[in-house]
Amino acid sequence: MKLRFTKTILWLVAGLAPAVLVMRVIHGPGSVTALTDIIPWGLWKGGGVVALVAIGGAGFTVAMLVYIFNCQLFKPVVRGAVLLALLCYSSVGLGLTVDIGIWWRIVFPVWHWQLHSVLFEVAWCIMLYLVVLSLEFSHTVLARIGWQRMLSAIEKLTMVIVIAGISLSTLHQSSLGTLFLATPFRLHPLWHTDFLPLLFFISAIGIGCLTISVATLFVHWLYEKAAPMRAVSGLGAICAVTMTLYGILRFADIIASGKAGLLVNPSWDAVNFWFEILLSVVIPVALLSQKRFRVSPAAMFWIGVTATVGLTLNRVNVSGLATLSLTHATYMPSWTEWAVSAGILAAAGLIFLFCVENLGLYASIGAEDVKRARAAGSLDPADWRTTFFSAHRHGEARLYSLVFVAAIAGSFAGLSDDAVFGVEPVATSTSSPRRVQVVKRDNGCSAPFTVALRDDVAAHSGAATSMALMVDGNRNGRYVLFDHEAHETRVEGGSNGCARCHHMNRPLDSATSCFECHRDEYLAVDLFDHQIHEIHTGGNHGCIRCHPGAGSPRTRANTPECTSCHPNMRPGNTRVQVADAGKRDRPSGYMQAMHGLCIECHRERKATLPVERQGIDQCAGCHGDLPAISGAVWQSWL
Ligand code: HEC
Ligand code: HEC
Ligand code: HEC
Ligand code: HEC
Ligand code: HEC
Ligand code: HEC
Repeated sequence: MKLRFTKTILWLVAGLAPAVLVMRVIHGPGSVTALTDIIPWGLWKGGGVVALVAIGGAGFTVAMLVYIFNCQLFKPVVRGAVLLALLCYSSVGLGLTVDIGIWWRIVFPVWHWQLHSVLFEVAWCIMLYLVVLSLEFSHTVLARIGWQRMLSAIEKLTMVIVIAGISLSTLHQSSLGTLFLATPFRLHPLWHTDFLPLLFFISAIGIGCLTISVATLFVHWLYEKAAPMRAVSGLGAICAVTMTLYGILRFADIIASGKAGLLVNPSWDAVNFWFEILLSVVIPVALLSQKRFRVSPAAMFWIGVTATVGLTLNRVNVSGLATLSLTHATYMPSWTEWAVSAGILAAAGLIFLFCVENLGLYASIGAEDVKRARAAGSLDPADWRTTFFSAHRHGEARLYSLVFVAAIAGSFAGLSDDAVFGVEPVATSTSSPRRVQVVKRDNGCSAPFTVALRDDVAAHSGAATSMALMVDGNRNGRYVLFDHEAHETRVEGGSNGCARCHHMNRPLDSATSCFECHRDEYLAVDLFDHQIHEIHTGGNHGCIRCHPGAGSPRTRANTPECTSCHPNMRPGNTRVQVADAGKRDRPSGYMQAMHGLCIECHRERKATLPVERQGIDQCAGCHGDLPAISGAVWQSWL
């Protein structure tokens, strides 16, 4: 009964993922995740990748004990450990694939080599290690299907494979830590240390011993067999030693680098830190050092679960949770993220059980035990409520497939509009520039010629001042200063050259401000408003002015040029040239309009300028070093 119950739950949870995954593939990660630009690594990477790799550390640890140190004690769990690692790493691969923006590029590291990137190394190690694990595991499969020649060939290679596996694991387990060395300003100092690679490696070994113990104990409980307790308690002892070392290193590092104060500083991070240490170090080490706990299956199971949660928390902290207080960001994974993570894990669990049943993963669980466990607690075939599910041959399959399909349907029904229809861009309307008085200063550094706001006139006494436009279309405080007057003389035609920039005008206007047409900061809009034209051309009587002939299609190409009624709309001789006919009368986003005009000209002109001013076409040439505006200052300019 408990076997059937467990499998039903696993199928149910596994069914939550597919619908979400399909929508994510169609509409991109933004449609189903709660990630933002500030928190780009969420549950899938932090929990699904960084933590799962550590949990999969069981594979290389046990393989090393059995094949290199020849500890026969651990033989009973070695196949399970290899499979556990294989499943963890496959889940990592799948999780990463759905997490990166353009998912089919997951294979790009194979031919696009980026030798300076830690992720590049991790990617390669994980790919190679997946191959190694498949080879290690093929052992079990070949033995089961009885391909003796292949089996003996693989057996001869065992040493090479195992050593390759250990080297690759050492490399990437630690490199995952290296990755976070790059985040000194994000990650809380209690976690950020130069020893991250070492700490990651040691804890993967320590907790890896327990994750395989948990899996082994759970499976034996399911099939009601005695677990290989000698192996399990041996692993417990190794874990106790390793995690003691880990704890000492961690605290020594914190104290040596003068961060001890943070340990007692009452803050959310300190609580989080102690909680993590309690779960991953204190409880496991304290309990595992006592023999009576090590030999008890129940105790070992719960210690293992606690430590695994602690280790996961550590990885989740490093990759996200412990960055929240420094980034001032919040992130709560959406239910769809949970569904995918849990679904992938549940599917892995089902595969594990399948291998236990069909490949003889544990010598202690034979075909008979499986049969008994599956038959146990079967329902009364005569009962009308259960007839459907307890049919003699396919009862289980019916139950599981029903649950699975129902979960898919349920999760699909629960998807948000964004997930189903894709994320729609949000409109951000633009407003007029403001005039501010500025002091010009030559700062001679990379930003060639900055314009400082005249926040303190006295400090700049004697400096030239001028009125500039503060261009901040979307009013978010990220503005650019534009000295309009100075620029009038910089265009061809001098002060008569307005049309060089003001390339288009609204009816009856000249030199119309850009924001009046480029009405959205990022999106293209339509300048032509049909309804307004209906009104201004006399309603039904006016249609014929633009749509001659009843039979002709009502398209823009078939209507007269705008300039036939608005002669000054497109002044000649402008800098802004748009070749793409599809964009006609559809002004692009404000940012694009600004960049199109400003950067183009700055590129052309920079060669004519003295060297120290040639940075005008670089981002900092316009965006750099501008005082932040807020509160009172902002008000005074309104
Ligand atoms: C180098 C390009 C350029 C030239 C030349 C230029 N302008 Fe502008 N003008 C701009 C930009 C950019 C803005 C601000 C963006 C916006 O309006 O959203 C602007 C804004 C304006 C504004 C609105 C200012 C406000 O306070 O709202 C007026 C009016 C204007 N220009 C008139 C002119 C006239 C008249 C000329 C010719 C003498 C001229 N411009 C030449 C680029 C130029
Ligand atoms: C009367 C409306 C109108 C005004 C005012 C206007 N634009 Fe445009 N702009 C357009 C339209 C419409 C297009 C699309 C191409 C076309 O139809 O010519 C465009 C295109 C552009 C482009 C090319 C963008 C691309 O996607 O390649 C740039 C650059 C540009 N505008 C800059 C400006 C600047 C700078 C100003 C202010 C100085 C300005 N525009 C004022 C209507 C306007
Ligand atoms: C000032 C010129 C002008 C006038 C006047 C005008 N139209 Fe249009 N009409 C257009 C243009 C331009 C389009 C193409 C719109 C587009 O591509 O977005 C269009 C498109 C249409 C369409 C296709 C609508 C669509 O969404 O695809 C219909 C129908 C239409 N007009 C009917 C009328 C009727 C009826 C009248 C009179 C009440 C009228 N128009 C007056 C310029 C005009
Ligand atoms: C048949 C003549 C005619 C044609 C063709 C025409 N317009 Fe107009 N348009 C008018 C009239 C009349 C008005 C209202 C009076 C005015 O503001 O000049 C107007 C007003 C406008 C306005 C200001 C109203 C508003 O607030 O939106 C814009 C912008 C405009 N037209 C854009 C266009 C564009 C873009 C085209 C080409 C796709 C176009 N017009 C083609 C006759 C025309
Ligand atoms: C017609 C060419 C041209 C266009 C268009 C143009 N610039 Fe410039 N801009 C220049 C040149 C040339 C300089 C360098 C002046 C110098 O250092 O002597 C310059 C300098 C600047 C500077 C340094 C301070 C100053 O005013 O001397 C800023 C800031 C700047 N531009 C912003 C902008 C922005 C923002 C836009 C678009 C709205 C823009 N420019 C469009 C030619 C242009
Ligand atoms: C010649 C001047 C100039 C240069 C060089 C320039 N920009 Fe801009 N940029 C502008 C102007 C003007 C705006 C409009 C400001 C606004 O609307 O807040 C803008 C807006 C932006 C915005 C939108 C800001 C917002 O408030 O949402 C971003 C992002 C941006 N630029 C990025 C860049 C990057 C990245 C570079 C370098 C590749 C760059 N810019 C180079 C002039 C420039």
